[in-house]
Amino acid sequence: MRISNKIVALVLDELGDMIKPGISAYELNVRAEEIIASQMASAAFKGYQMDDLDPYEYSICASVNEEIVHGYSTKDKVLKDGDIIGIDVGVEKNGFFGDGARTFVSGTVSDEIQHLLENTQLALIRAIEMCRAGNRVGDISAVIEETADQAGLYVADWLTGHGIGRTLHEDPIVSNVGKSGTGPLLKPGMTIAIEPMFNLGTSKTVEKEWVFYTMDGSPSAHFEHTVLITESEPEILTRSSHE
Ligand code: MF3
Ligand code: CO
Repeated sequence: MRISNKIVALVLDELGDMIKPGISAYELNVRAEEIIASQMASAAFKGYQMDDLDPYEYSICASVNEEIVHGYSTKDKVLKDGDIIGIDVGVEKNGFFGDGARTFVSGTVSDEIQHLLENTQLALIRAIEMCRAGNRVGDISAVIEETADQAGLYVADWLTGHGIGRTLHEDPIVSNVGKSGTGPLLKPGMTIAIEPMFNLGTSKTVEKEWVFYTMDGSPSAHFEHTVLITESEPEILTRSSHE
């Protein structure tokens, strides 16, 4: 799990450095595939199957502005000044999965978008603090919901984090809303992907094929870490080497 998730962090670090107006999601996807291949790993999202949707075509998800998650890495998706892009990366190596996401800015963004990004990231940091043996999944959910409320932001409906290990999505579901003291108990050795998704204008989401959008077209941010529960401090497996 450490190895797979470290590759996720490596990809995010490098793609983050590439973000600027004029770059396309397709170019980012190509670079991600090169890095993953160089690590003798595979892209976990490419070919992923869910419900009755066609298998996912891309190695990364690239979700721009009002796209919440699972955006397509197409050639015509070219960043403009003031855009934000959520990049989500999944890696499999030696039968273990890594999953992580960050939202990056292209050029200069408005103050309200800055506020959105800062508080979505803050929710993730606070949530990771709750990742201690003896706490419950609801403690994570509650702190994410509270962070959105305090910031005047909206948690995207329906979308959640998840357990992760020998498959990409495992129990438990890690909701971004909930009550502290409820839900499954966290135990040493568990690995979970925590992924707050906050919107500027509404909680309501619209789904088209794989892609989730905000219903009002307002921008959305997404940050995700895979975290290991230990006997003591949580271990962030997707931590950036820049930090
Ligand atoms: N990190 C995303 C999630 O946990 C991955 C989506 S799977 C994809 O939902 F195939 F759609 F990319
Ligand atoms: Co995930």
